[in-house]
Amino acid sequence: MTELKLDSFDEGLHVAVIGASGAIGKAMVHWLEQVPTVNRIYALSRSEPEFDRVNKTDFQYLDLLDENSIANGAEQISEPLDLVLVTTGILHEGEDLKPEKCIKDFQPDHFARIFAVNTTGPAMVAKYFLPKMARNRKNVFAVLSGRVGSISDNQLGGWYAYRASKAALNMIIKSLAIEIARKNKSSIIAALHPGTVDSHLSMPFQSGVPGGKLFSADYSAERLLHVIDQLTPGDSGHMFAWDGEKLPF
Ligand SMILES: NC(=O)c1ccc[n+]([C@@H]2O[C@H](COP(=O)([O-])OP(=O)(O)OC[C@H]3O[C@@H](n4cnc5c(N)ncnc54)[C@H](OP(=O)(O)O)[C@@H]3O)[C@@H](O)[C@H]2O)c1
Repeated sequence: MTELKLDSFDEGLHVAVIGASGAIGKAMVHWLEQVPTVNRIYALSRSEPEFDRVNKTDFQYLDLLDENSIANGAEQISEPLDLVLVTTGILHEGEDLKPEKCIKDFQPDHFARIFAVNTTGPAMVAKYFLPKMARNRKNVFAVLSGRVGSISDNQLGGWYAYRASKAALNMIIKSLAIEIARKNKSSIIAALHPGTVDSHLSMPFQSGVPGGKLFSADYSAERLLHVIDQLTPGDSGHMFAWDGEKLPF
C-alpha cells in the first residue's frame, strides 16, 4: 500500500464507517488504518467484517432497517467525529430482487426494500451521526451514492428502484448540506460515486464492464479518500466521482 494522508483534516481523527463489511467499506477501513493522524475507527455493519491486521478499529453491530441499532451505534461513540462514511447499499438481493430492465419488471415491494436500504437508511444514519460531528475543524459526512442516481446523466433507463433510490439519496444530501451549513460551518456533506467496483453488488453485471473499467475496492477507496481530502465547505451538497469530477444531480 502507498501512503495515504488526510492533510486537510486536523490531527487525532475519529472516523466511523457504516457498512464496513462491504467491499468498499472494508477497503476504507484498511486504508484509514494506515493514516498516521487517524486515532480510532468505528466500523459499524450488519455482518461482522473479516479484517486483516486492524489495531485502531472497533466493531459495532448496525442494521439500517433497525433504528435502535443506528441510535445505539451512534451512542457508543463518545469522541467528536471528523469523518463519517456511509458505504452501505443494495442493487440486488436473494433470488428475486434484481434491477428492472423495463417497467413491466417493476415490483412495489422490491422498490420499497431498495429505498429502505439505499435512501431511508443513510438518512437515519445522518439523523443520529450528524449531531456527533466535530465542530470548528474540517469534518465530512460522505455517502456512497452513484452516477446512476443522476437524473440529468441518465442515458440508458431501466434500474428503476436503484436509480430512484440514489436520486432521492442525492436530494437528501443536498437538504442536509443546507441544514448543516446553518449549524456547523466546518461540516461538508457529500455524495460519492466510486466507479464500477468489483464487489458483491456489481457481481451480476461485471461481464458488461469494458476492460480496465472495473476497479478493485482498494483502488476506489483510496481514490475516494483522496477526493474527500480535497473537499471544502463550498463543495457541500454535491456529488463527486472517484477521480474528483463533480457530477450533475
Ligand atoms: N460496486 C459498484 O460498482 C458501485 C457503483 C456505484 C455505487 N456503488 C455504491 O457503493 C456502495 C457500496 O457498494 P459495494 O460495492 O461495496 O457493495 P457490497 O460489497 O455489496 O457492500 C454492501 C454493504 O451494504 C450493507 N448492507 C446492505 N443492507 C444492509 C442493511 N439492511 N443494514 C446494514 N448494512 C446493509 C452490506 O452489509 P452485509 O455485509 O451485512 O450484507 C455491505 O456492508 C453502495 O451504496 C453502492 O450502491 C457501488
